[in-house]
Amino acid sequence: MPPIAVADESPRHVIDRDTDPDEWWRAVYTNVPIITQLDDGASPIAGGIGRATSSPSAPGTVTDLLDLLDVRPGHHVLEVGTGTGWTAALLAHLVGETGAVTSIEVDSAVAERAAKNLGEAGVQPRLVVGDGANGHPGGAPYDRVHVTCGIRRVPYAWVKQTRPGGVIVLPWCPEFGEDHSLRLVVTSDGIAHGRFPGYASYTLMRSQRVQPWRTGDGTRATSQLDPRIVWQAPPGAHLAIAAITGSRSYAEEDDGELTLWAIDPDTPGRWAAARSAPGDVGEFATYQVGDRPLWDEVTDAYRRWVAWGEPGRDRFGMTVTPDGQQVWLDTPQQVLARELRSTAAGAVHVHRAGTPAARPLPRAGPGSPPRPARPCAECGTRGYPAVSHPDQSVTSCPYAFAETRYSGWCIGAMGGHRAIEAGVEQARVACEDRADQNFLFRPRPAPLSK
Ligand SMILES: C[S@@+](CC[C@H](N)C(=O)[O-])C[C@H]1O[C@@H](n2cnc3c(N)ncnc32)[C@H](O)[C@@H]1O
Repeated sequence: MPPIAVADESPRHVIDRDTDPDEWWRAVYTNVPIITQLDDGASPIAGGIGRATSSPSAPGTVTDLLDLLDVRPGHHVLEVGTGTGWTAALLAHLVGETGAVTSIEVDSAVAERAAKNLGEAGVQPRLVVGDGANGHPGGAPYDRVHVTCGIRRVPYAWVKQTRPGGVIVLPWCPEFGEDHSLRLVVTSDGIAHGRFPGYASYTLMRSQRVQPWRTGDGTRATSQLDPRIVWQAPPGAHLAIAAITGSRSYAEEDDGELTLWAIDPDTPGRWAAARSAPGDVGEFATYQVGDRPLWDEVTDAYRRWVAWGEPGRDRFGMTVTPDGQQVWLDTPQQVLARELRSTAAGAVHVHRAGTPAARPLPRAGPGSPPRPARPCAECGTRGYPAVSHPDQSVTSCPYAFAETRYSGWCIGAMGGHRAIEAGVEQARVACEDRADQNFLFRPRPAPLSK
């Protein structure tokens, strides 16, 4: 662990071994990720502000994934995402002297530091700098592939480079609600099948980062489905909605009012928001932007999940072929798409899974008044509602919020209250500069009407 890092717990804070060794050791032995790189190295780690782009994961998550991987002495293992080298060292220990570990890291500065760490620890896995999405054919075939960055689409290269019977474990992170661990087994026909045994959430692989979303004119309507029910649904529902709609989510809660966004990760101008305010019964305001009715799709996917008997995430699975990935329910023949399809014997039969089509949404009335002010958790300023940063558990200062009329990850990435000290304009510019690095510079949408 470097002497200066950032503990990714609430509140996020810098840990410095020289100035506060007790806190540094406490954080290192706590079950939280420790951030070791910010903004792909563009922001100083000692500042503690920015998007986490490399971090040894929480020890509990690491052991969960290693349990699923089931590494044995003598195995040849590919790791994607070397980071600090910590898990590469654990893997090297597990495979022993008769095995081999190849670890690939996209960021050359991170890889260089890992080489130094591993050298000091007396461990010598093969370290490669490159895009792990391509695997590393030079070390194939592998018995195990261990992926330590978030994956939305599983690259077929990993399946191709794994021997039949071999196992691939990765965090599947479509980012709709809770993310999931995925354990795939490769079969002799060059296909991988597997299930989602539990929770795992990692920062996304560089090449799979999502597009920043943008504002746009939308359509107001109402929905009969309370977005709070969707947001609080179990992981099986989130998995099904992600697989069916391909959307990701983001939620904000303030004074008992919850707004849930569904966002097309690949098309910045397509998103929807639905609001559940205290006193709302049976009708919830929605706002849909772009040429896709995303909230209607989420509603339909949720209803179908209910009609299937609310299956838990362990009943879902994935198949990966050279043509891509497919998520299924119970058996690989029941593929989740916009409709549940049976693919037995090459035929495709469509089952509507017994759910009614979503009712057309009525038009909404005039806009609602601004939401009530509440003091900032950090500075006590009254202004606009505080904003939570989903990645960093940072509460943004409402003053910054009020000043810029911008909310969410942009200000969160600048460290909430500290964004004011740094200057909100700087936050905005920083965010815009990094648009290609998945900073979400999200103009606040028009208030949702009831
Ligand atoms: C959560 S960290 C990995 C933690 C690491 N296993 C450890 O023990 O410290 C994710 C790492 O994946 C790397 N990464 C992101 N995209 C990648 C890619 N396409 N290929 C290889 N590494 C990638 C990041 O630079 C980051 O260092």
